Amino acid sequence: MRGHTVVTAVSVILMYAAIVANSAMDPYKALHIILNPNGTLTRLNISPQSPPSPDPTLPTPVVSKDLTVNKSKHTWVRIYLPHKALDYFPNSKLPLIVFYHGGGFIFDSAASTYFHDFCVRMVHATQSVVVSVDYRLAPEHRLPAAYEDSVEALHWIKASNDPWLRHADYSRCYLMGESAGGNIAYTAGLRVAAEVDKIKPLKIEGLILIQPFFGGTKRSPSEIRLSEDNTIPLPITDLMWNLSLPVGVDRDYKYSNPTVNGGDRILDEIKVLGWRVAVFGCEGDPLVDRERELVKLLGHKGVHVVGKFYEGGRHGIFVGDPSMSVKVFDLVKKSPIM
Ligand SMILES: *[C@@H]1O[C@H](CO)[C@@H](O)[C@H](O)[C@H]1NC(C)=O
Ligand SMILES: *[C@@H]1O[C@H](CO)[C@@H](O)[C@H](O)[C@H]1NC(C)=O
Ligand SMILES: *[C@@H]1O[C@H](CO)[C@@H](O)[C@H](O)[C@H]1NC(C)=O
Repeated sequence: MRGHTVVTAVSVILMYAAIVANSAMDPYKALHIILNPNGTLTRLNISPQSPPSPDPTLPTPVVSKDLTVNKSKHTWVRIYLPHKALDYFPNSKLPLIVFYHGGGFIFDSAASTYFHDFCVRMVHATQSVVVSVDYRLAPEHRLPAAYEDSVEALHWIKASNDPWLRHADYSRCYLMGESAGGNIAYTAGLRVAAEVDKIKPLKIEGLILIQPFFGGTKRSPSEIRLSEDNTIPLPITDLMWNLSLPVGVDRDYKYSNPTVNGGDRILDEIKVLGWRVAVFGCEGDPLVDRERELVKLLGHKGVHVVGKFYEGGRHGIFVGDPSMSVKVFDLVKKSPIM
């Protein structure tokens, strides 16, 4: 018994030492960013970008192209289609997945190679139409800018006459996002659930949230356990919230903490609408306990929700590791997803 107490005390001290060491870490240096006096960010490391592949005469299994959503905000989407939808099945209707990329609300775009490659693999594996949304980033445009752009993209899809979108079945639409994009898919979902008539004939069947980025002022057990995580240690996630949340709110604001005040009231509407919600996570991700809390909250609210949690892993694994992406694709291939 006493031995156990000593071990616990030592590990608490080690944990504390880790937090102290970590708080000395400079998240700006780690992320290669400089916050300018005018509130903009200089991003010294832009991740690799990929162009779309719009040419149907090339033998690529997936074609893609970029279209402007709102010129004044520089927002746009990249649409992906299985090549054979153009060639052999001109009238077939494929499920529509609206995808929101990750990057802590401050990095990346729909052209980032990392997310582009994921979308290509997803379209190939699931034979669906994907619309990947390029939303405005923080801190130049703090939340709710990304949410507004993401909802605006749904209105744009509804109104678009683009021939590629004729291959999409608007009654089988899923909102999907990874990390910050998972947060965006969730919040955009809450927003459109309040006005489903306005996006008709687009009909949302559900949300697929891949390691969604949420936070809160009180540290979760997995955040403490993995505070020194190599991928997203606490100083980095703290800084991402500081740069993206509206000025003057803390991490218990509704954008970062979906459990405040017992959850958004519109969840009752989502239950009535019968949306399916899937949450992917893994034990090696500091965010995993918040993701479990979200699943619990949705379950309490009577929403059809499933948590897909895996051993080990890290933040980003479902996009970065093709063998884990398959877990997501297998879910998409089921219709309805659960
Ligand atoms: C903000 O400051 C940065 C760095 O000095 C500069 O490059 C950028 O043009 C400025 N942006 C605006 C909108 O003033
Ligand atoms: C584009 O965004 C601006 C600024 O939010 C808005 O006033 C305008 O209505 C939008 N345009 C379209 C075509 O939606
Ligand atoms: C975030 O903002 C709070 C309050 O302004 C500040 O105390 C904290 O040091 C900031 N954290 C980071 C990582 O910038």
